[in-house]
Amino acid sequence: MTSTNQHLSLFHRPRRLRRTASLRRMVRETQLTVNDLIYPVFVMEGENQQEEIPSMPEIYRYSLDLLLKEIADAANLGINAVALFPLISTEKKDNAGTESYNTDGLVQHTIKAIKQEIPEITIITDVALDPFSTYGHDGIVKDGKILNDETVEVLVKQAISQAEAGADIVAPSDMMDGRVGAIRQGLDAAGYFDVGILAYSAKYASAYYGPFRDALESAPQFGDKQTYQMNPANSQEAIKEVALDIAEGADMVMVKPALAYLDIIRRIKEYTNLPVAAYNVSGEYAMVKAAARQGWIDEKKVVLETLTSMKRAGADLILTYFAKQVALMLR
Ligand code: PBG
Repeated sequence: MTSTNQHLSLFHRPRRLRRTASLRRMVRETQLTVNDLIYPVFVMEGENQQEEIPSMPEIYRYSLDLLLKEIADAANLGINAVALFPLISTEKKDNAGTESYNTDGLVQHTIKAIKQEIPEITIITDVALDPFSTYGHDGIVKDGKILNDETVEVLVKQAISQAEAGADIVAPSDMMDGRVGAIRQGLDAAGYFDVGILAYSAKYASAYYGPFRDALESAPQFGDKQTYQMNPANSQEAIKEVALDIAEGADMVMVKPALAYLDIIRRIKEYTNLPVAAYNVSGEYAMVKAAARQGWIDEKKVVLETLTSMKRAGADLILTYFAKQVALMLR
C-alpha cells in the first residue's frame, strides 16, 4: 500500500464507491418514488374559488370544482392518494362537531365528487372534530376539558358518514383514547369492512401545525392540545400508542410531525410490520418555502433531501404539501 501520505496505510477506501455518478446510483440505498406520496388538500364552500394560504405559499384552499382539477392534476402526475381537510364556515361549527357527520356536508359531497370524477385516486379522510368545533379542539369541550368517550362516539359517526360517501381510508387524527377500536367496530357494524384505518398513532403536541390551523381557521380558542397530543419529549410512549392502535385494528400507523421525529419513525418501523406513514406537516413546508424565497437554500434539493431522509428513517408513505412538486421532479 503506497500512499503519497506516509502516515496513511489505507486498505479500505469508501470513496471508491462514490467516484462516479453510475457507481453512486448503484449503491444508493433509498429511493423516493411517486408511490410514496400522499397529497393533503383543503376544500372550502363555493364555486370557482381558490385562496392561497399566506403561511403556506402555493398551497390553496379550493372550492370543490377547482379542487377536482387540482386532484386530477395530481393523479396525472402519478400521485395515488389525497388526504382531505375541510374549511368549515363558522356558523356550521358547534361544540360537538355535529357538522362532521352531516350526510350533506362539505366533506361528504367532496368525497362523492372525487369518487365520481377521479375514481382511481385513493381518498383518505381526516377523522377529528377540530375543523367543526367552535373551540378548535379535537373533541367535545366541557368545563375547559376535552371529553374522551363522548368524543369517540361522534368520531365513529363521522367515520361512518365518510365511508358511506366513499372514503377508502379514514384517518383519525384526534388522539382520543380507544377511537381506533371504536371506529373499526362502527365501520364493520355498518358493513364497511373494506374501509381501512390509517391511525395518527404518534401525534405530537407540536408547534409545527400553525400554518395548517391558518388554512382551516381551526386554532384552539383556549389552551393547547397537550392533554391529548403527545409530549415531544417522549419516545417510549409512541410505541405504547402504536401498540394500542394496532391491537384496536389500525391498518397503517402514522408519525406526525416527521422531520423533528425521524427517530420515532425509525423505532416504529422496527416495531411493526404495518406500513408506516410520516406527515411532513405545514410548519415543515413553511420553513422550507420561507428560506427558499429568501434565496437562502436550494428548495428542490432541500425538499428531496428531506423527504428521502424520512424514507430512510423508515417511512413507507409521506403526506406532504410538496407532493405535486416532487412528483414532477421525479419524472
Ligand atoms: C387536526 C389536525 C392537525 C393537522 C392535521 N390534522 C392540526 C392539529 O392537530 O392541530 C396538522 C397538519 C399540518 O400541520 O400540516 N386534527
